[in-house]
Amino acid sequence: MNQDELKRAAAMAALDYVIDGEIVGVGTGSTANHFIDGLAGIKDRIQGAVASSEASARRLAGHGIRLFDLNDVPAMPVYVDGADEIDGGLSMIKGGGGALTREKIVAAVAERFVCICDASKQVATLGRFPLPVEVIPMARAQVTRALTALGGTPRLREGFVTDNGNLILDVHGLSISDPMGLESEIDHIAGVVCNGLFARRGADVLLLAAAEGVQRVTRN
Ligand code: 5RP
Repeated sequence: MNQDELKRAAAMAALDYVIDGEIVGVGTGSTANHFIDGLAGIKDRIQGAVASSEASARRLAGHGIRLFDLNDVPAMPVYVDGADEIDGGLSMIKGGGGALTREKIVAAVAERFVCICDASKQVATLGRFPLPVEVIPMARAQVTRALTALGGTPRLREGFVTDNGNLILDVHGLSISDPMGLESEIDHIAGVVCNGLFARRGADVLLLAAAEGVQRVTRN
């Protein structure tokens, strides 16, 4: 199986976590797109979905899946999304698609985060994938200096504006031995909206697709 087929296999396995009659939180990216397409096949069993990006909202709507505003949804049983890296403690780097802020917000409302990945995303230590940080435009230079002081090399994602009208700095070369601590530290830099470390609220379940099948890993 190629990487896209593995992404699809992980996404299809996540359909088992969808609860009948409920609202589903939906992530962003190529793996999440496979999940959205799978969700279309069972759309009559769910109330609808909350999307973590404009792109996912368009894809859900294209399948005729009802969209809910997160402000009208006090709780939902499950959020399903991909990741750029995931470690053994189910902490993740996310935001390769630039949707990290909305992803983190929707995930915060869900009882369970189901992460869907092909096996290439599993790492011993987070940080080889550059860490995305969403930044208020006027704070770009200030945040760049602060992230450099933390030991990283931030690079502006050229020509990219988030759904929230902000910029992304992709931080290369960070050594992430303490994902939870670094997540908090970066969030406290003035001008940072959100960073792509999902450690304080990591995944609860990982569905990891490899040639041998989809492995299910749960948080200890
Ligand atoms: C988007 C994300 C995605 O989940 C992450 O980039 C993985 O993407 P893909 O499923 O395309 O490999 O965080 O902001």
